[in-house]
Amino acid sequence: MIRSVADRVYLDNAATTRISPEVIEAMLPWMTEQYGNPSSIHGHGRVVKSAIEQARKTVAGLLNTSPAQIFFTSGGTEADNTAITCSIDNYGLTHAITSPLEHHAVLHTLEYLAKAGKIKLSLVNIDAKGHVDLNHLEELLQTNPRSLVSLMHGNNEIGNLLDLNVVGDLCAQYNAIFHSDTVQTVGHLRHDLKQLKTHFIVGAAHKFNGPKGVGFLYINADVKIHPYIHGGSQERNMRGGTENVYGIVGLGKALEIAYRDMDSHRTHIEHLKKRMIAGFREKIEDVRFNGDCENMERSNYTVLNVSLPPSDISDMLLFNLDIAKISASGGSACSSGSEVGSHVLGALGVAPDRGNVRFSFGKYNTEADIDYAVNTVAEMYKAVTV
Ligand SMILES: Cc1ncc(COP(=O)(O)O)c(C=O)c1O
Repeated sequence: MIRSVADRVYLDNAATTRISPEVIEAMLPWMTEQYGNPSSIHGHGRVVKSAIEQARKTVAGLLNTSPAQIFFTSGGTEADNTAITCSIDNYGLTHAITSPLEHHAVLHTLEYLAKAGKIKLSLVNIDAKGHVDLNHLEELLQTNPRSLVSLMHGNNEIGNLLDLNVVGDLCAQYNAIFHSDTVQTVGHLRHDLKQLKTHFIVGAAHKFNGPKGVGFLYINADVKIHPYIHGGSQERNMRGGTENVYGIVGLGKALEIAYRDMDSHRTHIEHLKKRMIAGFREKIEDVRFNGDCENMERSNYTVLNVSLPPSDISDMLLFNLDIAKISASGGSACSSGSEVGSHVLGALGVAPDRGNVRFSFGKYNTEADIDYAVNTVAEMYKAVTV
């Protein structure tokens, strides 16, 4: 039996989001009566194929690009791996630049390629707030002009945003290939691919109230790469394997809803984030916010990474929150070389004895969720500091 989570507070929307009922409704026919294989040329197949192409058209239209530049994948990780591995292979790139704050889908892929001797990897410096040092990026590009630059748009742990226009211009100036992991911003911020100078961006449906296990890779028309997954001729020969039809339909619907409701959801979620910042400031002395997440202009409105003063409960924080029926994530900074803890907080130099929690918000959260989380944390701290 599936245990109910109805009485829990979910504040982990950067990990994944609850699927919208409208999305489920859109997916259902493609799980039931429309079961053809999209590669089949008969009627059962053709109708399914056209649903995939409709979803591709929807995604491309919302991102202001053409359907020919959108490729469906199994999610953000596969899209990142494809962009990175195939651009390095196809263009014979020998140098890549990334930051120490990237998601492991990017960092581990590049580290693997560096270890295999395919590339030399440079890490761009970050400032005290976790923003990319653009002067250092330019220095790295001056020394290694034709590089792969992989820098994320919205950080999944601290929410920091990168200015894709500025980095895109810089990459163009040095003839670099620019991949941005946009998993945390697709569906939450608008991307205009006609105007952005990115070669690759990626999306994952489950981050914007769509299904898990499906995503997309945008490949700029000027870029020619071979497939990452070899097999049949699906995705115009770019990704073998029978398509996740209902997932793709769900992704298209979820993005359509995300764009339709983006302004009102943004207002609602920003209000919740500000309420949580104010609540913690009022109730906990020496509360801090990791990275630049309290800066509403330079961080994603969906993420707040709270740093609580050192105490005996720092290590137990997430566990205690879980017992109080609050789902959040985060943890301590990992020390160098260790796989335990957060490499992002480690790179930012957050003291390991502080208690860190990433709260991330979605359209289904309410003020009551925020107040309950703030009060619960404040009570826990009162108990250990009196
Ligand atoms: C920034 C970022 N990149 C990549 C991924 C991986 O996406 P997926 O889980 O769809 O493979 C995630 C998911 O946590 C993410 O937050």
